[in-house]
This record gives sequence, C-alpha cells and structure tokens, in this order.
Amino acid sequence: MQSTFNPKSSRRVLIGIGGGIAAYKVCEVVSTLFKAGAEVRVILTDSAQEFITPLTVSTLSRHPAYTDKDFWQPTRQRPLHIDLGEWAEVLAISPLTANTLAKLTYGMADNLLTNTILASTCPVLLAPAMNTEMWQQLAVQRNWQQLLADSRYHGMDTGYGLLACDRVGAGRMAEPAEIVTHIQSLLHTNGKRDLLGKRVLISAGGTREHLDPVRFIGNPSTGKMGLALAQAAMHRGAAVTLVHAPATWNVPQGVQSIPVVSAEQMQQAMLECFPEADLIVMAAAVADVKPASYSAEKLPKRSLPTKLPLEPVADILAELARLKQPHQCLIGFAAQTGDIVTPALEKLQNKKLDAIVANPIDQPDSGFGSGNNKATFIDNQGHQVEISPCSKLQMAHHLFDFVQGSIGAPGTWH
Ligand code: CTP
Repeated sequence: MQSTFNPKSSRRVLIGIGGGIAAYKVCEVVSTLFKAGAEVRVILTDSAQEFITPLTVSTLSRHPAYTDKDFWQPTRQRPLHIDLGEWAEVLAISPLTANTLAKLTYGMADNLLTNTILASTCPVLLAPAMNTEMWQQLAVQRNWQQLLADSRYHGMDTGYGLLACDRVGAGRMAEPAEIVTHIQSLLHTNGKRDLLGKRVLISAGGTREHLDPVRFIGNPSTGKMGLALAQAAMHRGAAVTLVHAPATWNVPQGVQSIPVVSAEQMQQAMLECFPEADLIVMAAAVADVKPASYSAEKLPKRSLPTKLPLEPVADILAELARLKQPHQCLIGFAAQTGDIVTPALEKLQNKKLDAIVANPIDQPDSGFGSGNNKATFIDNQGHQVEISPCSKLQMAHHLFDFVQGSIGAPGTWH
C-alpha cells in the first residue's frame, strides 16, 4: 500500500479497535498510516484484546496502545479520554462491532473508546465488520442508519465475501487500503461533505484499441488518478460513477463501476451517464486512433500487416461539451510533456470546458503509473493554480476544492 501525507497537512489519527476477527487487518492500517508519516494512537476494547494484543499495535504505531486499564489509571492529571478526544484529528473505528455501534447510536459510554468518541468533535470513520445475520438484523441496520444521520460519522460499506464464520455474504470489513484512503480524505476535508447530493461521473485509465483479441494500441495510463478522483468524490458525499478502462486495482465499495475496453465503449458509457451527472471529469487517456479493421480470431504472425491502417476515434470530451447543460461542470485532463500550460489552455478553449488539469508526464514521480502527481488547474475564467507534487488522492481533493471555489475558481456550476 503506497500512501503519503502532505507534511503541512493534519495527521493525528486515533484508531479504535473493536472485538472482531477483522481486528488483525487493522494492524495493516496502523502500520501504513505510521509509514505515511501520521502520528497514530490506538485504543483496544477489552474484546479486541481477545484477537490482537496491545503489543502488536504499540509496536506498529511506535507508541503505547491504550486499553480500559489506562482509562481507570488514578495517576493521570487529566482524564485520558479527554486528552485523546482533543488530540485526534480523525478517529477511525475498525472493526466496528454491533455492540459499539449500538452504544454510539444511543450516546452511551462505558469504556475508553466510547468515552473518547463522546469527548471529541473530529470526524469519525466507521468500518463495521460482522457475520451476515448480525449485520442484517433490523436493530443493527436501524442503529447504523440512525448513527449515519449524524454528519460527524462517515460510514464505510461492508463488503461481500467469505466470512470467518464460513458464510459467504455481506459483513466483511472494508479493505485496509480503503480505510487508510478514507482517513486521508477526512484529514484533508475535516469531514466536509460538499459534494453531497451531487452525481459525479469520472473516466479513468487507458483505452485499448484492439487489432485482434491479443494485440492492441494502448498507452501507459494505469487509471490511478481517476480512481483517486472517484474515492475523493465519494468521501465528500457524492454519488460516483467510474467508467474505467482495464486496470489492476479494484473499484471501491460504494462507487458504481462501468468497465470498458475501447474508446467507443467508453464513449457509449459516458454518453449514457452524462445527462444525470453534475460534475464530469475525463481523466482517462483515450486513444486518438484505432486500427481500421479488427480480426475476431488471433492473427498468426505471418498475417500481421507491416503497415497498420488507422482511423480516428471520436473525441468523447468534445462531444460531452456539446451536450453540456448550464448546471453541469465539465473538466478535462491534458497529459503533456514540456510546456504543459499552453496546450492545456488550447484544449480548454477548443473543447469548451469549464476547467482543465495540465498534467506533466515527463517528470519523475508524476503522471502515468505514479502514486503522486503534479498539475496546473486552469478554468475558463482565467484562474490558474499550480499544485505542487502530492499524492493522487490529495490532487483529487485539490481539484474538487478548485471547482468548489475554495482555491481560486469561482465555482459557479452548482
Ligand atoms: N479525450 C477524449 N477523447 C479522445 C481523446 C481525448 O475525451 N478521443 C479527452 C481526454 O480524456 C482528456 C482530454 O480529452 O480529458 C485531452 O486529451 P489529450 O489526449 O491530452 O488531448 P487530445 O485532445 O487527444 O489532443 P492531443 O493528443 O493532440 O494532445
């Protein structure tokens, strides 16, 4: 799992571990956050300690882990739950058990973890994990919905799969990498849900134009920037659709996934979803040309042409711009070498976009395949903001801040 924090950004994360077998996966969350530069503190409930030990997490976080024994420690000058509650910039509870969920729903506090939550005001991320029957109980679902009605709580969907009880069903805890990404989003936004009620449509990855079933014209895009945009938009409250070319990553729970291969399939999917979308970001690296003919059978080497006749593919972004309604905001990407701003400005104007991301692809630690990126945002009012190298998730948040008007642009689309 690759992740980094912007050294200037907030990074004090408190993890609360509940009693469930998924507790062992939270060790990876603690370790990844620490390696990414966060200060991590961990509270284990009594039942969590049946699954993992305080020593495990204190070793990973390089700080003593807290348990209820510390809560009742008479030598402290200030109550521990107050100190921890004030210290945390984000609190994440994983796995969230039915028991802790019920207590939080009713504002009950009978241990260090629940007292700390009540004594804090920061965003709280919840990653439930339990057996399918338990998760689907009406009482549990009612508590879950009721708790999420409180805007400080951010819920992660449970996954579907083989559970430790040998059941295949809902109730799996979100993957550690997803939990880390969501925590990073909350650190950036402080829990702000400024895309709530918006539909965000994003394209990602490099399309493939096949000559036959095994050979294609493609490009090095891995779709990581589009994925980060989808995660950031979802964490800010949007309903997100991700139209993506073949990728090595999984689409996060909660994002509607439309897998495609060719530019033509991407065009079709984007056109279908476009009318419902409020904010559209074309982050995909779309082919400009395709082989003029396609063979459904694999061509033997001896039959391969030595010259490949090509034909153009439609410019999806330009087509979307022609259909765009005043309430919609359409953003393109310009992956460039050398001078990135001049060609990006031309694309912004020619394609009649609201904004464009000028993205260097000839610099280290930026562009295709990298976990990090660097860019200049330009909007159609002449605002330009240069974003220094940062993770693709941070870049995605900076872009949403830009279109919402908080870093330079007027944000008139909403
Ligand atoms: N784009 C698209 N359809 C295409 C080609 C590009 O929708 N067939 C979109 C990309 O997703 C990106 C923007 O247009 O958001 C700019 O893509 P880019 O490849 O940088 O520019 P082109 O318009 O293709 O121009 P050129 O290749 O000449 O730089």
